[in-house]
Amino acid sequence: MRYRSQSVAYWYFAVAMVLFGLQVVFGLLSAVKYLGPDPLLYILPFDVTKVIHTNLLIVWVLTGFMGATYWLVPEESRTELHSVKLAYVQLILWTLMGVTAVIGYLFRYGTGNKLLEQPLPHKLVIVACMLIFLYNIGMTIRKAGRFTTTEGVLVLGLLSSAVLYLPALLHYENYTVSIFYRWWTIHLWVEGVWMMIMGSFLAYLLIRLSGVDREVMEKWLYVIVGLVFIAGILGTAHHYYWVGVPTYWLPIGGFFSALEPLALVGMAIYAYTAIRRAGLSHPNTLALHWTIGSAVFALFGAGLLGLAHTWPSVNRWTHGTLITAMHGHSAFYGAYAMIVLAMITYAMPSITRTRNDVSSTLGFWAFWLQVGGMFGMTLSFATAGIGQVYLERIVGLGYLDTQLKIQVHFLMLILTASIFSVGVGLFIFDFFRRAPRAEVLPETEAESVRAGGAAPPEPAGQAAR
Ligand code: HEM
Ligand code: HEM
Ligand SMILES: [Fe+2]
Repeated sequence: MRYRSQSVAYWYFAVAMVLFGLQVVFGLLSAVKYLGPDPLLYILPFDVTKVIHTNLLIVWVLTGFMGATYWLVPEESRTELHSVKLAYVQLILWTLMGVTAVIGYLFRYGTGNKLLEQPLPHKLVIVACMLIFLYNIGMTIRKAGRFTTTEGVLVLGLLSSAVLYLPALLHYENYTVSIFYRWWTIHLWVEGVWMMIMGSFLAYLLIRLSGVDREVMEKWLYVIVGLVFIAGILGTAHHYYWVGVPTYWLPIGGFFSALEPLALVGMAIYAYTAIRRAGLSHPNTLALHWTIGSAVFALFGAGLLGLAHTWPSVNRWTHGTLITAMHGHSAFYGAYAMIVLAMITYAMPSITRTRNDVSSTLGFWAFWLQVGGMFGMTLSFATAGIGQVYLERIVGLGYLDTQLKIQVHFLMLILTASIFSVGVGLFIFDFFRRAPRAEVLPETEAESVRAGGAAPPEPAGQAAR
């Protein structure tokens, strides 16, 4: 690493890894309940394991975003972080918030608003953490007096994510009104401002890993962000079809959300052209796998499988079924889990004491078992979902009778999820078997950057140091 303060990223990544592991445990716990019998029915019922599973997901992905930002900003702005102490205070507060929220869910303490179940005190801590985070990043950039387009898009994405969390602080008695505003946070996060975060990490990684021209990459980043906004904002209406709002939302939601995959196609083309131009010569091949993998898997899970059920005429059958879980898993994993894992893998040789063996066989096993496992899980949810829609919504069978008829798909889900979990376990093991590193790169190089001299060449070779 070039700047000492970048080492805070390690601790963010470490927390993210622990929470990722726990998320998977609660996923498996939720999945086995489909089959029954459930000895934990009265201690840990499905709704509790599911809320913990999804909340841990959001917390670890956000922890990963924060760590990756603390890693990226000093490098892009060529300065130390404004305050390392604040970054640690933020991490401690954030982790305490996450852990106590999960403990609270075990005792049914939560708001019940899907994905935004955090109780008000926890929500206020989240806001405080975001303020500390944005202040620290903002001051770092201000002090440096320099920021790149990649960094600008990232900070704008983070700032907007914080602003869009504000509607979640309010409570509405009316269910329709509550659902209406819930999507301002959830949809506009995952199909709006988080895409800016993903796009900027992708641009950063592609510039570093392939050595392609920064100017060209950043120009295309604007195009992707533009596409996200054109389609994503009014695309929110694909969640308004059946919630009790006027029917004009149906054509608006259908039309604009159908345009949303364009940005994901753009990102995949972006990644493809970068490696086509520059080849695969970077020594950190594993980081390249995660980076390209993220662009491709996001196109599949979010773009293709999102499009599959976004038309009102399809969604009226599939809404709230396992088809939603099919898309939710593949989209979240491809777009957000994989890009965080890419940033971690890219930073690993610098933030941990390691030989140049980051692209180890173990690392590739972790990659392929996860990608293969998640692909299998997506197919299992899809086949279960198709069966469910047919039996429950077309034939008219009851919910539980239907669940009994689609057990074979749940078996397939547990099998593929186990493969996925081994991949996650290997990734976590690979991360923790390396001790963190605090020292910076050779002083001469770092000094020349800090003094405003010529920056070391950006690209190839850097991650192997
Ligand atoms: C061992 C791995 C995993 C298993 C067995 C698993 C299982 C499950 C189950 C059974 C549900 C409840 C679905 C329902 O409501 O019927 C669920 C929900 C969910 N999981 Fe996972 N999961 C795993 C990993 C992941 C990962 C890695 C991600 C994202 C990166 C993820 C994202 C989600 C999301 C977003 C939901 C909510 C979906 C919805 O409400 O439609 N899961 N998971
Ligand atoms: C990275 C991007 C995306 C992520 C992480 C994501 C994730 C999710 C999740 C977790 C849900 C379940 C939410 C809930 O019920 O609380 C969902 C629902 C949905 N998503 Fe996405 N999504 C993404 C992109 C897209 C795109 C591009 C489309 C359309 C082209 C789309 C179409 C839908 C639809 C129609 C639903 C509602 C399903 C239902 O009616 O039950 N998504 N998405
Ligand atoms: Fe959406």
